Amino acid sequence: MHVLVTGGAGYIGSHATLRLLEDGHRVTVYDNLDRGHQATVKILQAFGGERYRFVRGDLLETEALRTALAGVDAVMHFAALAHVGESVIDPFRYWSVNLGGTLSLLTAMRDAKTPRLVFSSTCATYGEPPPERIPIAEDCPQAPVNPYGASKLACERLIKDVAEAHRRNGLPFGFALLRYFNVCGSDPKARLGEDHDPETHLIPICLEVALGQRKELTVFGEDWDTPDGTCIRDYVHVTDLVDAHVRVLEKLAPGAELIYNVGTGQGASVREVLNACRRVTGRPVAERRGDRRPGDPPALVNSPAKIRRELGWTAARANLDVMIEDSWRWRKDHPHGYGGSRR
Ligand SMILES: NC(=O)c1ccc[n+]([C@@H]2O[C@H](COP(=O)([O-])OP(=O)(O)OC[C@H]3O[C@@H](n4cnc5c(N)ncnc54)[C@H](O)[C@@H]3O)[C@@H](O)[C@H]2O)c1
Repeated sequence: MHVLVTGGAGYIGSHATLRLLEDGHRVTVYDNLDRGHQATVKILQAFGGERYRFVRGDLLETEALRTALAGVDAVMHFAALAHVGESVIDPFRYWSVNLGGTLSLLTAMRDAKTPRLVFSSTCATYGEPPPERIPIAEDCPQAPVNPYGASKLACERLIKDVAEAHRRNGLPFGFALLRYFNVCGSDPKARLGEDHDPETHLIPICLEVALGQRKELTVFGEDWDTPDGTCIRDYVHVTDLVDAHVRVLEKLAPGAELIYNVGTGQGASVREVLNACRRVTGRPVAERRGDRRPGDPPALVNSPAKIRRELGWTAARANLDVMIEDSWRWRKDHPHGYGGSRR
């Protein structure tokens, strides 16, 4: 299959590209390198040879997307802006890139008659579910509490509407919405890693403290109604997440409408993650007590029942220490990440 991967120079998209190349597919990565890394282009090019192609372009450039889509069988759409705090400060940019970019992509896909789409959605579309809805199943009401989650939910709606129109017009189109929980880890062979700027994810921040690049980790609230008082999240290894994408792609027949949460079903508290980072790195990770952040639900844990039942997917690397070991292996070799290799 020839797959176009938007955001394929970023964290999850680059790992997905590597897996698709390993499986023998052709991949076109479409990325503006706003938050992606030129270094991944070199690594993936070396691995994939002629089966890999990089197109530098913006989601809002519909004509460039249309050209890039020639001969493409499926799209994996990772490109987005994905920081909650930033989305509150600059909703214009988030709505433009996330919703406007997805509209542009769907327009180009319609014109190029591209029949399959796998969309990166998020558990942030659920907002703050009440305790009785934890673990979170796919039918949990979606009520996002920030512009990031709202823009992703709007994309889900847009994709459903477009699919319905295609169905009425007799056009073959299948789509999947994958709502990820907290993605972490990196390629177990340490060919690729996680390097966000700004970095807002817990595990990379702990590792930066372990490396002496940050003074401390701020723990936002230690008085939540959880066993150790810190927030609980569901961490899923990027390799397992990518595996879910591959399984979904195999099932994406015309007319298919697949919606899955992707998370392990096991929650880990901030304190458990912090202690695991200390254990895995063998280094001190200093912490400081911070106030609760508004809009931070105490616990977000997935119910993986549906994806397990329908796709046979389970998280093979669900152990927290394994996830952190994989992140640490790459980060130790690349203390400055990809080294600011954007552009
Ligand atoms: N990382 C997580 O824990 C997590 C959790 C839930 C959902 N997601 C979703 O997964 C996807 C990938 O996340 P990530 O962590 O790999 O992010 P990332 O920032 O590492 O990668 C995003 C990529 O998209 C590219 N991009 C951004 N705007 C673009 C534009 N206008 N045109 C073309 N390319 C553009 C960036 O350059 C970057 O390479 C996002 O859609 C995000 O919402 C991530």
